[in-house]
This record gives sequence, structure tokens and C-alpha cells, in this order.
Amino acid sequence: MRSSPVFDTASGPLTADSIAGAAYIVAGLLFILSLAGLSQHERARGGVIYGISGMIVALAATIWLTLQKTWGGDQMLTGLIFLLVAVLIGGAIGLWRARVVEMTGMPELIALLHSFVGLAAVLVGWNGHLEEPHLHEDLLAIHHAEVFIGVFIGAVTFTGSIVAFLKLSARMKSAPLTLPGKNAINLGALVGFVVLTVWYVNDTQLWLLIVVTLLALGLGWHLVASIGGGDMPVVVSMLNSYSGWAAAAAGFLLNNDLLIITGALVGSSGAYLSYIMCKAMNRSFISVIAGGFGITASAKKDADYGEHREITAQETAELLVSASTVVITPGYGMAVAQAQYPVAELAHKLRERGVNVRFGIHPVAGRLPGHMNVLLAEAKVPYDIVLEMDEINDDLGDTSVVLVIGANDTVNPAAAEDPGSPIAGMPVLKVWEAENVVVFKRSMASGYAGVQNPLFYRENSQMLFGDAKQRVEDILRAF
Ligand code: TAP
Repeated sequence: MRSSPVFDTASGPLTADSIAGAAYIVAGLLFILSLAGLSQHERARGGVIYGISGMIVALAATIWLTLQKTWGGDQMLTGLIFLLVAVLIGGAIGLWRARVVEMTGMPELIALLHSFVGLAAVLVGWNGHLEEPHLHEDLLAIHHAEVFIGVFIGAVTFTGSIVAFLKLSARMKSAPLTLPGKNAINLGALVGFVVLTVWYVNDTQLWLLIVVTLLALGLGWHLVASIGGGDMPVVVSMLNSYSGWAAAAAGFLLNNDLLIITGALVGSSGAYLSYIMCKAMNRSFISVIAGGFGITASAKKDADYGEHREITAQETAELLVSASTVVITPGYGMAVAQAQYPVAELAHKLRERGVNVRFGIHPVAGRLPGHMNVLLAEAKVPYDIVLEMDEINDDLGDTSVVLVIGANDTVNPAAAEDPGSPIAGMPVLKVWEAENVVVFKRSMASGYAGVQNPLFYRENSQMLFGDAKQRVEDILRAF
């Protein structure tokens, strides 16, 4: 093989590896700046630009390194073709999905993307077994442990993410799977993994790798299938974390610093986000990451809460103009109906008439963190009237009218009042304390967690049935 015209790849102070390594560190720093930017509304756009720049640096360095290492050799063309084909296909699919995906479809897309990271980690691990590097005996033991751990984390992430995708896209029921002895199954799988790892490190046999792959695929499936719909937001961020650790494991195997840094960033930020979300939803972090550990299925049948009352758009308009304070609590239905624009106009019109209008946002309203905030910002609702759940909850008792627009689980009094409810303990917007509540939805169906909502039957609640966008437009016309 001839040496590269630019740098000697094997020796000298500036090797191709050291230059690519430096570029990877720059990319890693850009990713850190990206995460920092994304943590605040105002700086989010800058965060995205840092992320894109980091990815460009990383890709350019990887392509350049491949060229340098294979310069003039037979592998150069094959390597380049493989790389370009992979980048073109991946880039085209990514661009297409990013352009067509609805905001409401983001979590399931993210779950699907996590499954690719998991699958990639499994393939890298398998490759690490089949193409064993020439290493000293001690280092070889570490390599074997990396192969095994990488395959295990990758396979758990792969099937776990697929189940999350199926549940989020309603292709699979969101109710938790409760196999008898489910905690023992999970624990047994973990103990099995530890035993198999020790065995494999001492005796590198292919069948052990096959067994651990199957075990991890089953565990990933079971872990996520056992978690109920209400806890899915935490599951998505938990899988985000797993995919990060899977990437880091692949980085160790490939001896790639950038994958290790990026994987660790994604892994730790995903774990922290899961922890924050568990705290916000009053859930046990350990219970959720252990596949619903300690949660028993509720044997309750649907209760009879009596009759609900209905209201028309005209009557709602009359109620609103005579109100002094109005709080709007949007949910997933507002996103489905794309009702944010007429809702913003409604808020504007009421404010012009001197009504004090504010929005109350539940931390998991919609289908991804910050979903409602993004929609309202898109419709130019001023930030200062958009309040978090904790900021508005104490004011709801003094509110004339609450408009619940396409929200359900996040305003369910059962969470606060019924200890037997599957969402018991989850903090909710206490809309039922207001003088009047108008619920915009199309039917009496339950929300994402599949739990009945007694709010709809309260004396101060009235249902305004139909598509949220059309109903809000009807109210605007009635003005
Ligand atoms: P949900 O409880 O899912 O309720 C949304 C309601 O919107 C439904 O009851 C539905 O009733 C109604 N709806 C749907 N389309 C509509 C339309 N076009 N017009 C009017 N209404 C419509 O929503 P939520 O209160 O926002 O709660 C979010 C749920 O999703 C929680 O359980 C949460 O845990 C889960 N989740 C959240 C996330 C994150 S991170 N935010 C991620 C995954 C899951 P009809 O069918 O009768 O119209």
C-alpha cells in the first residue's frame, strides 16, 4: 500500500489518526455546546447549529481518515463506495423522514431511530467477535467483555425501542404486559447475562454470544412491554439513554473516541432526563427502568360516574365573554387537530376584551417533552402567559373558565384522588377546581394511559364534542 500524499499514516508527529482524533474532540465539544443550547428556548436554534456543525466535522474526519488509511490500496475504492452509499442512503431517508414527520409522530420516530443505534451496536459487537484483533491476552479479555456488554445493551435497546415504537404509534396496546413473575424474569435475565459474560470472557464461544443476543432481545421486549402508557415518556428518554450506552460500547470496540464521547453524552443526558421526568410524574425511577418493577396491574373495571353534560360553541363563547379569568390547558388533541392557531387567536381576542387569559402546561402533555410549548410558540402565543403546571395549579380554584383542549390524562382527578388508579400519584392540572370546565374532544374515549376520566362527569364540567380546531373556530365566529 502506498502512503497518503498528505500524511504518513504510520509514523511522524502528525499521523492521520491523531488529526482525526483532534477533529473528533472538536466535534465532541460542539455536541456539548449543542446540548447546552438545547436546554433553553432562546438558545435552542444555536444548539441545533452546533449539533449540525459537530456532525459535519465528525463525518468529514471519518471520510478523510478512511481515505488516508486506504490510500492507493485496493480497499480504497471499496471503502469509499461503501461509505458514500451508506451516507447517501442514510442521509436521504433522514431528510425525507424529517420533512414529512408530524410533530405528533416525533416520539415514535425517535424510538425507531434508537432501535437502529441498538442494532448497530449488536452488529459491531458481532463483528468484534468474528474479526478478533491481535491483542495481548489481558487486553483480549477486556475486548471480549466489551463485545458481550455491547451486544447485550444493543439488543436490549433494539427490541425495547421497537416495542416503544409500536406502542407510541398505536400498533400495539399501550396497557402494560403483566406476565406472572415478570420481575423474576427480568432479574433472571440480568443474572444470566452476568454469568454468561464471565463464561464468555474465559471461553470465547460463538454459541454464548448467540444465547446472550437472544436473551437481551427478549429482555428488551419484555422490559418495555411491561410498562404502561402513562409511563411511556420516561421509557422513550430511558431508551435514549440506553442507545447512548450502546453507542459508547461500540466506540470502545471500534476504538473510536467520538463514539465514546457522544455515547456517554447521550447516555448520561438521557438518564438524567428520565430521572427528572420520573420526579415530575411522581414515579419511581428504578421501577420504570426495571420494566415496571413493583407495579401491580389494577383489576378495576370501568366505574359508573353518571351522566355527562354537553355545551355548544355558542354557549361556550357566551361563557368566555362573561369570564374574568380563563386558563387554557392544551393536550395531545390540540396537536392532532392543529388547533394552536385558532386557540392563539381566541386567547388574543379574549385578552383584547380584558379577560385574563393564561395557558397551563403539564410536563408530559402531548407526546414529547415541550410539545405544547413548541406548538404555542409556533402560533406566537406570548411566553409570559404560558405557565408550567406548578406555576398555575394553585390559581385554578380562582379561575372562571378552564378550557381543556384535547387533554385527558393530564387533567384526570383520579390521579390525585383514586389510589387504585394506574396513574395514581402522577401530578395533574387541577382543572376541576375551577368554576367552569369546558372539555374539547371528539368522544368520551379515554386518553393515552387508557384510564377513565371522572372529570367529564363533574357538575362544573361540560363537553364540547368535535374536532378541537373546528370547535375553537366556531367559538371565534360566535364572537
Ligand atoms: P391524552 O391523555 O392522550 O388525551 C388526548 C385527548 O385528545 C384524547 O382523549 C382524545 O379524545 C383527544 N383528541 C384527539 N384528537 C382530537 C381532536 N382532533 N380534537 C379534539 N380532541 C382530540 O393527552 P394529554 O392529556 O396531553 O396527555 C398526554 C399523555 O400522553 C399522557 O398519558 C402521557 O404520559 C403520554 N405521553 C406523553 C409523552 C410526553 S413526553 N409528553 C410521550 C408519550 C406519551 P377523543 O379521541 O375523544 O377526541
